[in-house]
Amino acid sequence: MQTSGETNSGAGTIAGDLLAWYDVHARRLPWRRLPGEAPQEPYRVWLSEVMLQQTTVAAVGPYFAKFTQRWPAVIDLAAADDADVMAAWAGLGYYARARNLLACARAVAAMGGAFPDTEEALRALPGLGAYTAAAVAAIAFGRRAVVVDANVERVVARLFAITEPLPGARPAIREATDAITPEVRAGDFAQAMMDLGATVCTVKAPRCLLCPIRDECRAYAEGDPERLPVKAAKKARPTRRGRAFWIVRDGTVWLVRRPGKGMLGGMRALPDDGWNARADGHGEPPLAGGWRSGGLVRHTFSHFDLELQLMLCDAAGGASLAEGEWWPLAGIEEAGLPTVFAKAAQLALAGA
Ligand code: ADE
Repeated sequence: MQTSGETNSGAGTIAGDLLAWYDVHARRLPWRRLPGEAPQEPYRVWLSEVMLQQTTVAAVGPYFAKFTQRWPAVIDLAAADDADVMAAWAGLGYYARARNLLACARAVAAMGGAFPDTEEALRALPGLGAYTAAAVAAIAFGRRAVVVDANVERVVARLFAITEPLPGARPAIREATDAITPEVRAGDFAQAMMDLGATVCTVKAPRCLLCPIRDECRAYAEGDPERLPVKAAKKARPTRRGRAFWIVRDGTVWLVRRPGKGMLGGMRALPDDGWNARADGHGEPPLAGGWRSGGLVRHTFSHFDLELQLMLCDAAGGASLAEGEWWPLAGIEEAGLPTVFAKAAQLALAGA
């Protein structure tokens, strides 16, 4: 095992102190190998890093278990039906990630099923961004790569007292992270920074007395680490309004598949009136007549709030509808509806 004492001295004591802390305090996570263990399979590192973007460790746990049980290797995922993968992702949000996941899995399968082992070659895979390429290169392949997520951003902004507001501070934060990233154990170092950010150097009330790099921290020395990083004022979050249509017939409900790209793209859904992040919905219901209100669903997306009026209709007459499928109400859990429509389904079924 490489110990923290073997990190390059040019990175100074920050990396050494942090790695020594990580050797003792690393969180045990389902996708992680602890210091000294053999590296984790690249497939599992990649899958977990994609799932962890904009999503908490607690939320990812059950999805990571489900995906790795059902698709144990990248070639299994590559061979899966799009619909099954989208349904398995339902509830995790940011659905473009699932579409990109499949595109990437298929590209890796076409290359023989082994992930490339450099940051540059990983970055060239479809749907694999700069963050994921750096994280997989460092964690799965032990490459030196500069890995910056929101936790790392916060730790580094405080360490170097970077007062420029985000997102403008990103280049400076990246440069500072580069300067402290060691030549060896860069994957452990990245994960140590993430763990420090998640458990010690927290957004609110950082626990500086437990911090292994407190003596190196300028924000601590200056007395107010919590004020960093500074964030640019957020734009007001708009509220969009729309309607979703719950059409039942003989113990089934009419579901559609949303178009491949865009909001909730590729996901199974209730028909709706075309609301999106930029506009309220104005479309007509898929059937004429016989509608009653089923209540209001509220949902928060990353850039807007949605107030969704649920409309109910019984289509016993055998009215014809465009593309979609009659889905058994008893199996609605298996439809893989994204959360906003799962809430609508719950509301409809509670009122039925
Ligand atoms: N967040 C994103 N990637 C992570 C990782 N590998 N460990 C802990 N938290 C993370």
